Amino acid sequence: MKVMTFIKNVLVCLFHNTECLKVVGPAAPLLAVAGEDLVLPCSIQPNTSALDMRVEWFRVDVTDSLVHLYKDQEDKNEGQILSYRGRTALSKEELQKGNASLKLSAVRASDEGAYKCLVEAKSWYDDITVNVIVEVLGTHPVITIEGYDNLGGINLVCESRGWNPKPEVWWLDREGVTLTAEDTETHRDTEGFQVKHSITVYDSGSNRFYCRLQQKHHMTERDIIISGKCEFQHFFTVLVIIDFIFAVVFTVTITCVCQKKGIIFN
Ligand SMILES: *[C@@H]1O[C@H](CO)[C@@H](O)[C@H](O)[C@H]1NC(C)=O
Ligand SMILES: *[C@@H]1O[C@H](CO)[C@@H](O)[C@H](O)[C@H]1NC(C)=O
Repeated sequence: MKVMTFIKNVLVCLFHNTECLKVVGPAAPLLAVAGEDLVLPCSIQPNTSALDMRVEWFRVDVTDSLVHLYKDQEDKNEGQILSYRGRTALSKEELQKGNASLKLSAVRASDEGAYKCLVEAKSWYDDITVNVIVEVLGTHPVITIEGYDNLGGINLVCESRGWNPKPEVWWLDREGVTLTAEDTETHRDTEGFQVKHSITVYDSGSNRFYCRLQQKHHMTERDIIISGKCEFQHFFTVLVIIDFIFAVVFTVTITCVCQKKGIIFN
């Protein structure tokens, strides 16, 4: 297709002995934010009016892929993918300046992928590909206490899901210093990336810890304050003995006392 286009364009240039037109687009993928509007750049060079040309935008990676069609000086979007209905626009004013950029409003996660902009006149056509990545902010992270180690450390786990692309995850102390985390698990499901980030903290002055998740356009974080000391080894020993005797009631009571005394979730 590319070679054919090239050969055809060269022949057209030779025969018509006019300027050789070409379609140009962005070199790098576009990073869009879900919910916001996006312009997919596509223009003819040198500057030539596209008002009488056919401009077709379509998805490369799906079948029945029409996103927007302009021909005979009007939009013909009957065959358009349903999810794009009412969200696409070409500007006639801009077409006159050779600008066939597509305006896409209220970007969705499903808009991510490769698009082609195909511009066609009577004796010439050319196309370019525009890649779109849609940033989706995941859920506000949740911090849980996974356990306690022999040295008095507390294992904290920070979880969040629904991200696209994969976010960066950090644990920070109260001064904003990055802490070395032990483990990061990342999974991808239909809702996007899910991350699970673990750390063991010790009661050593700093008792406030932040779990921060970040993309280019999004940041979210949650903190946990660990005040005072929960005597965990002791706590577990007591639990084991008491579990033998009173099982559930006491376990619940002690857990509550310990949380009240020791650990505050924000
Ligand atoms: C293209 O030409 C039109 C009219 O001649 C002009 O208004 C416009 O600014 C030009 N665009 C560029 C990118 O040079
Ligand atoms: C092309 O048109 C779009 C709107 O359709 C506009 O946002 C963009 O700035 C235009 N590009 C140029 C180079 O004029």
